[in-house]
Amino acid sequence: MNPTVSEVEKEAQAQLKDIGSREDLEAFRIAYLGKKGKLGELMARLKTLSAEERRDWGREVNRLKGYLEESLRTLCESLPDASTSEGNFDETLPGIRPAVGKLHPISQTIREICRIFGRMGFAVVEGPEVETEFYNFTALNISLDHASRDSFDTFYTDSGSLLRSQTSTVQIRVMEKNDPPLRIIAPGRVYRPDTVDASHSFMFHQIEGLMVDDKTNFSELKGVLYWFLRELFGSSTKIRFRPHFFPFTEPSVEVDIQWGDKGWLEILGAGFVNPKVFEAVGYDTKKVRGFAFGLGVERIAMLRLGIPDIRYFYENDLRFLRQF
Ligand code: DAH
Repeated sequence: MNPTVSEVEKEAQAQLKDIGSREDLEAFRIAYLGKKGKLGELMARLKTLSAEERRDWGREVNRLKGYLEESLRTLCESLPDASTSEGNFDETLPGIRPAVGKLHPISQTIREICRIFGRMGFAVVEGPEVETEFYNFTALNISLDHASRDSFDTFYTDSGSLLRSQTSTVQIRVMEKNDPPLRIIAPGRVYRPDTVDASHSFMFHQIEGLMVDDKTNFSELKGVLYWFLRELFGSSTKIRFRPHFFPFTEPSVEVDIQWGDKGWLEILGAGFVNPKVFEAVGYDTKKVRGFAFGLGVERIAMLRLGIPDIRYFYENDLRFLRQF
């Protein structure tokens, strides 16, 4: 028996519910609206009908056709793989890679150093870059007329503040606010009126370290620095301690590492905290002992990453930065 218009419509409605892709949609379109489709068959039956029946039949078939076309249009827009107005979307083409940033090599180096000291129980603290004479000089036992003041000279503001020339300032700020025992490292920017060249910059980064308790000794300072430098540069790194002078430590050392055919390279300064520094923060010099150290981040990053010129760090040239 030939199906009626409403039978074809019911069948179509059932099938429309199951359409889940453009392929299904196209198959449906061909089955109903195609040249040899079901609507065509319904239309072909017109000639078997009487003139009166034809009018109703034709109207019904046209109504069904309009309904099916409208349904197809709606489905086509809602299907996930529907083509866009610009043309077909080809999911096999390579995508547009989003620009993912990463940490600057200086930040990477600071994080690595903080991670190593973190494992030895040092907490990371930060201090201000705009400082006073007290924190940058006086409290660190660098008096106004001391010759070593020259090497820590810095930029001054009109109101008498200055840009810190060393992160040792953070030692004072931390000790003023906290009682011993303490174990801190303080990364940050410092400023000096240096002429810029391949190894000098008017701004660079330092990391200061400070440990204070009632019984620490020089062996402990050596142990901490040995372990740090071997973690950073490799377990076979050769390390040398040389006597030196710093106003805020007594005795003081400079620490060198052996670096290929470059020989011994100075890598950091350190020493036992000078009692004058403890006095400046109101600690009882009979009860506390401590050691401190300070290192330059750029220097270490240049050695580890093989960077020949400090100026590369500050130029923001992505061709340079993307390498690290
Ligand atoms: N503040 C020194 C500098 O800028 C580095 C330094 C040396 C820090 C010895 C220290 C230290 O804490 O004990 O060159």
